[in-house]
Amino acid sequence: MATYDRNTEGLELVHKFADQVKGRTFLLTGPSPGGIGAETVTSLATESPALLILVGRSPEKAQTVIDAIKKANPGVKTKFVQANFASLKSVRKAAQAILDDPEITKIDVVINNAAVMATPFELTEDKLELQFQSNHLGHFVLTNKIMPKIIAAGPGARLVNLSSLAHKLTGVRFEDPNFAQPGSYGEFTSYGQSKSANLLYTVGLNKRLSSRGIRAFAVHPGSIQTNIHAHTRQMDGARLASLMDAAIQKTTGMTTAEFRAAEPYKTLQQGCGTTLRAALDPDLVKEEGVYLQNTNLTTDPNEVKDWATDPELAEKLWKLSEELVGEKFDI
Ligand SMILES: NC(=O)c1ccc[n+]([C@@H]2O[C@H](COP(=O)([O-])OP(=O)(O)OC[C@H]3O[C@@H](n4cnc5c(N)ncnc54)[C@H](OP(=O)(O)O)[C@@H]3O)[C@@H](O)[C@H]2O)c1
Repeated sequence: MATYDRNTEGLELVHKFADQVKGRTFLLTGPSPGGIGAETVTSLATESPALLILVGRSPEKAQTVIDAIKKANPGVKTKFVQANFASLKSVRKAAQAILDDPEITKIDVVINNAAVMATPFELTEDKLELQFQSNHLGHFVLTNKIMPKIIAAGPGARLVNLSSLAHKLTGVRFEDPNFAQPGSYGEFTSYGQSKSANLLYTVGLNKRLSSRGIRAFAVHPGSIQTNIHAHTRQMDGARLASLMDAAIQKTTGMTTAEFRAAEPYKTLQQGCGTTLRAALDPDLVKEEGVYLQNTNLTTDPNEVKDWATDPELAEKLWKLSEELVGEKFDI
């Protein structure tokens, strides 16, 4: 049996599973230069997918990624769809554009990668908390709305939701997901909630799609130095250090120094390895679990929290998400 670890690189997997890439259509959210998503799609390009659909908020950033894709493989077809995940109106418009596009007959693999981390408290135009909406609710709406085109791909289609080790910070705050209670907001608590939601949504998708041979996985890519740290870079140094110490202690039981020694930053290639195994390895469905880290599935309760995989909580989140976005999705 093949073995993978934290050093496994995305390109290695794309070449190994080339038959799962050639001629297939991939949709990825959050393609920005220097990010895990950009590295994921430029790696995929090397084995000639039929179409790479990039969903992002910045046409300029996406164009830089498209240029890198064309450099990796000039023959690959790409499409950019604009969406701001912090706006339900924008996400619905993007979903409709995908549904209406006759060149997109099916979507074999969806990679929900876009996210923000540790933003100051903010309610969006939809009166939803920014991280919960950007990281979970926006993707919930986009993915569910384009589901007919994912189902059209048939058995073997895949959904990959980028979660995080940070899901271990907290489960979904079902009674107060928007942090309305005064003093309840924490930059990392909110991020942790959204990353638990990514996992629970994965469980909810599997419940609805497994019988069609379509599977969803959630991944923790590892720690990678990307622009996800844009907001923490703006925090006061002492406050950031104390928030990070607390978050690392809670998620790993280690001090920050111990954690950094045990888990040095990954390269972007190592960072996209876990996403790409979840997206491409046909044998993954034979193993137990929904959550991958270091390129492998794990069901270890120390690594993946019950509050992020419990099927009843997954249904509770599905209902809460429908209520918050004001739309039902019967898949
Ligand atoms: N890097 C890590 O250490 C790490 C660890 C665990 C999990 N992850 C997860 O990995 C995924 C990729 O993150 P990354 O590290 O590659 O960060 P990144 O480079 O900042 O990529 C995040 C992407 O999400 C996009 N995005 C954010 N808010 C958006 C919105 N409202 N609408 C549309 N797009 C939006 C960003 O667009 P802009 O460029 O326009 O901002 C960017 O394209 C995330 O889900 C993150 O939670 C990362």
